[in-house]
Amino acid sequence: MKLILLNGELLSREQASIDIEDRGYQFGDGVYEVVRIYNSHFFELDAHLERLERSAHEIKIKLPFTISDLKQRIEKLKKSNNVHSGHLYLQITRGVSPRNHAFPEKAEPVLVAYTKEYSKEPSRIPGRAMFTDDIRWLRCDIKSLNLLGNVMAKDDATVKGYDEAIFHRGEIVTEGSSTNVFIIKNRILYTHPANHLILDGITRRKILSVAASLDIQVAEESFTKQQLLEADEVFISSTTQEVRPIIEVDGQPIGNGKEGDVTASLQAEFEIHISRSEK
Ligand code: PDD
Repeated sequence: MKLILLNGELLSREQASIDIEDRGYQFGDGVYEVVRIYNSHFFELDAHLERLERSAHEIKIKLPFTISDLKQRIEKLKKSNNVHSGHLYLQITRGVSPRNHAFPEKAEPVLVAYTKEYSKEPSRIPGRAMFTDDIRWLRCDIKSLNLLGNVMAKDDATVKGYDEAIFHRGEIVTEGSSTNVFIIKNRILYTHPANHLILDGITRRKILSVAASLDIQVAEESFTKQQLLEADEVFISSTTQEVRPIIEVDGQPIGNGKEGDVTASLQAEFEIHISRSEK
């Protein structure tokens, strides 16, 4: 049976319990990470844990363990669950306290982590997306458990038969409901700057360095919906979806309506980085 990490203990799902006054449950008061596991190795673990530490700091959660402690605990979890290919989900909430909007003076943060083994690799087939108004808050740089704006957008896209919802604030494209968004125009790669309006994806960062190594010019500059529709190529990125081409938005084909060359070369180089990390 797969085990769950609850604070310092590895437990079965039946044994692990969350208090009804856990602030993560009542307020979404916590932060999380999703870390990919390839060939039994975590991919970009340090970057994920650094981002987790930053997210916690930004919402004034003081971690009751060091990052190297946390690393040891999740390595043990991965080993116990014998995960070959999949991901780790990890969340930290502010802890348990009588319900009150203000932060409690005393609350011990609660850590929950578990692994998911993929029965088959996630599909990288080109997807179709729709635009949607970015109604989320103005601290999208924090990987917060509050995901209502994201899940509502994704649900809307799913019901309408799309693979992803692409957010825009006014005319400016920000990111996807659970992905970062990139466009390529005249062989220049554009993506929204890493500020408070997007999550600075770990995959996004990797793609930017991969692009530089391929001599693809990178511009961390915002672009409009119209620029996206007129781009040569569009793709999205995340820990679980890696680099995924988007060939149609709101029913309009992007470029020639097929995966583009630049996206394909970024995907190929990204895979090389994955296989190097597995050693
Ligand atoms: N989502 N933007 C948003 C809003 C996200 O939720 C995610 C990731 C990303 C990409 O970040 P990264 O490359 O670090 O995975 C961008 C995760 C996978 C999720 O919520 O399941």
